[in-house]
Amino acid sequence: MTLLLRALTPADAAVAAALHARAFDDPWSEASFAAQFAATGAVTLGAFEEGELTAFALFQDTAGEADLLTVATHPARRGEGLARRLITRIIDDLARQGITRVTLDVAEDNAPARHLYAALGFTEDGRRPRYYTAGRQVPADAVLMSKRLNG
Ligand SMILES: CC(C)(COP(=O)(O)OP(=O)(O)OC[C@H]1O[C@@H](n2cnc3c(N)ncnc32)[C@H](O)[C@@H]1OP(=O)(O)O)[C@@H](O)C(=O)NCCC(=O)NCCS
Repeated sequence: MTLLLRALTPADAAVAAALHARAFDDPWSEASFAAQFAATGAVTLGAFEEGELTAFALFQDTAGEADLLTVATHPARRGEGLARRLITRIIDDLARQGITRVTLDVAEDNAPARHLYAALGFTEDGRRPRYYTAGRQVPADAVLMSKRLNG
């Protein structure tokens, strides 16, 4: 199957929201994605197979640093390296553009995402206690992570 990687636009908001809803207990609305994809400093990459969005990553570039806002892979396509590929591609582009640091936060109990970020070279900076509450009986800490880019 052919994999097409391309930036997402507001026209992709509906499919992004549908995929996000399969990945998160507190999904973003289609309107939120449309606004975010159109925002100044938004950096996106989606993976399409046979025209279907199977994974995407969304960063926000703010004053020389970039924050990973969200990343999701379709449940049927996890563990195939899609998220790693998207984030790696975006980070390489950000580094070439002079971005010096990338940040993110992740729920402490999200083992797949934490493994992914560690494998990509992110390290832990601190924690935001009981930050994640959606879909949980017990809130989970946010683990704050960052990766310094060569610049
Ligand atoms: C986190 C998520 C985006 C990973 O997407 P993915 O396409 O399956 O990830 P990849 O296949 O690129 O995996 C890359 C690395 O992540 C880690 N990883 C991925 N899935 C894992 C799992 N189930 N358990 C442990 N590690 C895992 C591994 O380190 C893997 O590297 P490896 O292949 O060398 O072992 C996906 O699980 C997802 O959509 N989860 C729900 C949404 C979410 O939690 N997003 C992150 C919020 S911070």
